[in-house]
Amino acid sequence: MIDKIKEIAEKIDQFTAKNADELEALRIQYLSKKGEVSALFNDFRNVAADQKKEMGQLLNDLKNKAQDKINELKEQFDSQSGENNDIDLTRTSYPIPLGTRHPLSLVKEEIIDIFARQGFTVAEGPEVEDDWHLFSALNFAEDHPARDMQDTFFVESRPDILLRTHTSSVQTRVMEKTQPPIRIICPGRVYRNEAISYRAHCFFHQVEALYVAKDVSFADLKQILLYFAQEMFGADTKIRLRPSYFPFTEPSAEMDISCNICGGKGCPFCKNTGWVEILGCGMVDPAVLDNCGIDSKVYTGYALGMGIERITNLKYRVKDLRMFSENDVRFLKEFESAY
Ligand code: DAH
Repeated sequence: MIDKIKEIAEKIDQFTAKNADELEALRIQYLSKKGEVSALFNDFRNVAADQKKEMGQLLNDLKNKAQDKINELKEQFDSQSGENNDIDLTRTSYPIPLGTRHPLSLVKEEIIDIFARQGFTVAEGPEVEDDWHLFSALNFAEDHPARDMQDTFFVESRPDILLRTHTSSVQTRVMEKTQPPIRIICPGRVYRNEAISYRAHCFFHQVEALYVAKDVSFADLKQILLYFAQEMFGADTKIRLRPSYFPFTEPSAEMDISCNICGGKGCPFCKNTGWVEILGCGMVDPAVLDNCGIDSKVYTGYALGMGIERITNLKYRVKDLRMFSENDVRFLKEFESAY
């Protein structure tokens, strides 16, 4: 009997249970009426009278040991599952405040959505660029002011490395790597060497769109512009194109939309003209296609680029550009339910 007691004592030391069910199985195996410890108590009556005292003590110790061990394991489960804690599960929880999305992100995503519905996919490029992708491949003349340190951030020791001043550099990168048809939309941050004020910042955001394929015409460009303007600012929005100049498009244009604040009647925002400028665009200059390894005799394309801050201002009337980068929670909170 002593051997049996020792054997069970060792087993008790090794008790483990992964959950309450396993623990209950152990209890049944050892401590229930038909369990192993109880069986020893039944054998007790056969123990010689002079050993009864000692054996009785050992048996009681064994039973207590098993019970203690089971209690100990049970306590572990209880504290893990939160029972016996002072948590009031019936109490009403604190409201978790809604996070807000930055207005520039909201507008950026809305622009991407609109173009995505016409088959454009997102492409991205680096913010630290080289001269070729940012200027040379895009036909900028050697003496173009954008190449001037006054306007652009250069890396001091590397005159050919700079912070991109526009997202048109992504056009170059994609065209170099991909043959038409190309239909991309490129959102991103750009940098210019400007004094910071309510109307200018040294960084801001642009979205660029590019479509290159066979037989792309100015009519296609005009159509996507109208589609974009009406999706973004409402079905009544009118557009107007004014001739302009960009080194990488020919012909080039700037697009105005009917002022969405006064509905075209004239107000301080549109300087009483009824129109506000929102983007630049044009047909990709054949020289740019050739620079990027695309045969300009076979393919044509259009491109357009716009400032996200500008579109956001029109949509939400943010008067001071600096608000966008100050992370003032009171400002951001105003966009809690937007989009
Ligand atoms: N890159 C021009 C800028 O930053 C914007 C622009 C104009 C982009 C005409 C274009 C375009 O793709 O066709 O001012």
